[in-house]
Amino acid sequence: MAENHSIQKDCCPMKTKLKSPLPSLDRLLACAEAAARAGGAHALKHAHRRSVIAETFAHDVKLKLDRECQDVAERTIRKHFPRAAILGEEDTVAPVAADVLWIIDPIDGTVNYFHGLPLWCCSVAVQVRECTAAGAVYAPVLDECYTAHRERSSTCNGRPLAVSATHRLKDAVILTGLNKQNDLLDRSIALFHLLSRKTQKLRIMGSAALDICQVAAGRADAFFESGIYLWDAAAAALIVEQAGGRAEIMATGPHHQLRIIASNGRLHAPLRRLIL
Ligand code: IPD
Ligand code: CA
Repeated sequence: MAENHSIQKDCCPMKTKLKSPLPSLDRLLACAEAAARAGGAHALKHAHRRSVIAETFAHDVKLKLDRECQDVAERTIRKHFPRAAILGEEDTVAPVAADVLWIIDPIDGTVNYFHGLPLWCCSVAVQVRECTAAGAVYAPVLDECYTAHRERSSTCNGRPLAVSATHRLKDAVILTGLNKQNDLLDRSIALFHLLSRKTQKLRIMGSAALDICQVAAGRADAFFESGIYLWDAAAAALIVEQAGGRAEIMATGPHHQLRIIASNGRLHAPLRRLIL
């Protein structure tokens, strides 16, 4: 599981031989966007119930609305593709193996949402043989919807996105997250310490998917985190790449756990040298 790979750059779902024909990328994207908007809208509409907890962990919560929003997103996907294979953050059982896999993070930034902070989103990606073909990230409080498919530039609310031109770490704003797993926390804090000295600013905003979209939008220059999951990053990684940046995903453990470096491209190599 320790191999390094970009699930993005070198794959082309349209050229992959599949058992049944692939719907067009436009159709896949329209469905991903509809599902992300529906899941996100449900969370926003029911924000008065945001403190109803399903399960509590040491540094995290699972909300009743996490499950509900995943169900809403799933129903939207199944309206378009009734037999879709779906992997959602809230699932406990793996989906059946399929060429085309839909990946949902119903509320990315659950802790932000729970506390009433505005930075959270619903993320939906569709992969063809492990390569993301299309993805959408919808942040309801900001009313921003980020989208991309493999043959189209990324957009936010229909406007094209482009990564920043920052090329020196000392001028860069870099976003990250702090994983609380014991084996990763010390390493993440040491990296935070190192990078705060080498960059203009380091920020922790609390929603990996939305953070990566900020890199696509040129508002931040890079994002990195260890110990996140495929549903946190699948859609946003494509969005940053189709905005001219680079997303490098490294599988690190079971259950789709990974490490990601997403950047404007220019800062990728210097950042990578410090992180890996
Ligand atoms: C979390 C957020 C957070 C990141 C965590 C993720 P969740 O997702 O993306 O920013 O630091 O690693 O697990 O649990 O809110 O869906
Ligand atoms: Ca998440």
